[in-house]
Amino acid sequence: MVKKKVAKKKAVKKKAVKKMVKKKVVEKKAVKKPNPEKKIVKPLKKPLDKRPEKKKIPDKKSYEERYIKTGMKGFDSLFEKASGIPKGAAVLVEGGPGSGKTIFCLATLNELCKQGKKGLYMSFEEPEENLISHMENFKWKPKEYIKKGLLRIKRFDAIDVSRSIEALLSEAKKELLIEVDPVFFPKDFKPDFVVIDSLTSIASAFSGQQSRFRVYMEQLFRYLERNKITNFLIREVSSPSHVGTTFIEQGEAVSFLSDGIIVIYNVIYDSGHRSSAIEILKMRGSNFKRQIVELKIVDKKGIVINTNKILKKKQKGFNLT
Ligand SMILES: Nc1ncnc2c1ncn2[C@@H]1O[C@H](COP(=O)(O)OP(=O)(O)OP(=O)(O)O)[C@@H](O)[C@H]1O
Ligand SMILES: [Mg+2]
Repeated sequence: MVKKKVAKKKAVKKKAVKKMVKKKVVEKKAVKKPNPEKKIVKPLKKPLDKRPEKKKIPDKKSYEERYIKTGMKGFDSLFEKASGIPKGAAVLVEGGPGSGKTIFCLATLNELCKQGKKGLYMSFEEPEENLISHMENFKWKPKEYIKKGLLRIKRFDAIDVSRSIEALLSEAKKELLIEVDPVFFPKDFKPDFVVIDSLTSIASAFSGQQSRFRVYMEQLFRYLERNKITNFLIREVSSPSHVGTTFIEQGEAVSFLSDGIIVIYNVIYDSGHRSSAIEILKMRGSNFKRQIVELKIVDKKGIVINTNKILKKKQKGFNLT
């Protein structure tokens, strides 16, 4: 009897506990229900006028309108965000013999043609076939671009150009009135980008006529500026600008006329092996990293710029030439 009573009591208690738990769950569920009124009343964490303005991300279109990309990832990443080589800029590409000036410019030309822009390579050194074959060695397709009318590679004779300028100058009397475009640029091709390879070759054709070369250079820069043509002007220098030497070579006047200077160095390591390095020395209106980084020319690939490999001047073991 007693056992039965105890069992009954336990059963009642169990039922009561179950009821309690159920009630609590129901209550909890009720609390969880969203209160739409509460949402509306909820005050703003910060008044609108005190909130920091969202950073404006420059839209892609305006970046593309303002800057050009070389397509060499390592090189392009030397520029800070929303910065680059300004469109229409005159950029000197200078460096020692065999450092990679021509290939660097061809790589940029190739990239711009890939983007559907028109590029002109004016060579005063290597013949057209050689330049086309260099490009093909990197698996680029210059002949396709030539066919499409996007690319033109033309070889000029610097002596011919200097003679024509001489003739124009003596005709014009007032030297600053000469026009460079009839001598220099193909009339039936309006490029977005021009490479001149090299100013050094043109300068040597003006030997002993330094002042005329200067006048000619000024005209050339003005022509390119007037026509908003972005241009890379190659200059071979025995000692790059960073070394701080004063140029006695013809063509020193172009440094201050240019909007940008890209320097390609020949590097010699103590181990005896050679390589190249690149630096943006100057780029008006642009924000860039001031670093000298490794540049490699790789067959079937092109130019590889390794921004992780910074050549610090204090670090021993190599020399820039
Ligand atoms: N397909 C390729 N594969 C690997 N290396 C190459 C290839 N083509 C060229 N190079 C290397 O790139 C180097 C630089 O060539 P580039 O013609 O650009 O130099 P440069 O600075 O214009 O020389 P220069 O002062 O004679 O005009 C060459 O010395 C060559 O060794
Ligand atoms: Mg060259």
